[in-house]
Amino acid sequence: MNRIYFDNAATTALEPQVLDAMMPYLTTHFGNPSSIYSYGRETRLAIENARKTVAKILNAHPAEIFFTSGGTESSNTAIIAAIRDLDCRHIITSPIEHHATLHTVEFLHCNKEATLSYVKLLPNGHIDTNDLKNLLAESKEKCLVTLLHANNEIGNMLDINEVGELCKLYGAIFHCDTVQTVGHFPFNLRKTPVHFITGAAHKFHGPKGAGILYVNENIKIKPFVHGGSQERNMRAGTENLYGIVGFAKALELATKNYEQDSTYIRGMKIYMMEQLKKHIKDVSFNGDPLGRSLYTVLSVNFPKTEKSEMILFSLDINNICASGGSACTSGANAVSHVIQAINNDLNLVTVRFSFSKYNTKEEVDNVVEKLKELI
Ligand SMILES: Cc1ncc(COP(=O)(O)O)c(C=O)c1O
Repeated sequence: MNRIYFDNAATTALEPQVLDAMMPYLTTHFGNPSSIYSYGRETRLAIENARKTVAKILNAHPAEIFFTSGGTESSNTAIIAAIRDLDCRHIITSPIEHHATLHTVEFLHCNKEATLSYVKLLPNGHIDTNDLKNLLAESKEKCLVTLLHANNEIGNMLDINEVGELCKLYGAIFHCDTVQTVGHFPFNLRKTPVHFITGAAHKFHGPKGAGILYVNENIKIKPFVHGGSQERNMRAGTENLYGIVGFAKALELATKNYEQDSTYIRGMKIYMMEQLKKHIKDVSFNGDPLGRSLYTVLSVNFPKTEKSEMILFSLDINNICASGGSACTSGANAVSHVIQAINNDLNLVTVRFSFSKYNTKEEVDNVVEKLKELI
């Protein structure tokens, strides 16, 4: 059986058209964008055009877009800037954030730079907005609210507008980790009450190591990497030219085909749910997969047995790539912090399947067939 890749929330295959757009900047157009002669002017233009493309698609201003190395750097930057430059002293987050957020807020908390609160979750894994409201209302200090737009393990989506309005009401800064939604969701940042969002090209068929940080024009943060004058003095260092060009091209293609691709991928996710329910006893799903949920992610629980405990390894042996709701260390499954927070049932084994436009229903059939044997 050919390899089946159902781990698109981890990363995606580079789209050939994106590689085509990047190639000149890996070969002939190699000038340093800061050089004043023609080689440099060409590559500078490519970066600024990429910025304009990204800004236009997200309905933001080009000056609000900073190119970074990816989601982790963007979230680190936004969170640290909110504390050090924007006077936030209280961070409100959730226990099911990506580690790029959780480890950053824990660092700031341990460093005594901010107090830290975790918002409660509802049984379906969504944020309890009443609890968020209470935390904001009761806070004596300026807050940073940092929450995922779509959870990378269970796919639950935040109502970004509702949370943004709450933050506005209480004068809080709002950072939303949108790494799983940029390139998978239509943004209109002019109309979205958010201060920071993040993106990573490799989640939507672009190159790895290329990301963005959106910083709303109404806030001013200090430089985050010191040195040269790149990224308008904010992030020094010679730019990842081909990565930036690739980011813009990948976003352009993802946006152009959004309706068609999202409908297709959602259909595949629902089909997989149906097939699993039909063929595997006592299967269940985490989060809110048919409700406010990202169409690319499906988090599945299997009853724990000797066989199912080895499921990721068995899938791998069968050329099927999926990931745990878990980090695997030398054969032992450690339950992920997300699954633990929403469903602390030690009798279940969780697998995340995540899809892209390159997957097919036939692949779903093959995977379900294999699961029938393996579970
Ligand atoms: C929700 C979320 N945030 C942040 C990241 C980190 O992004 P990157 O790998 O580009 O640093 C990821 C990627 O796994 C993610 O899924």
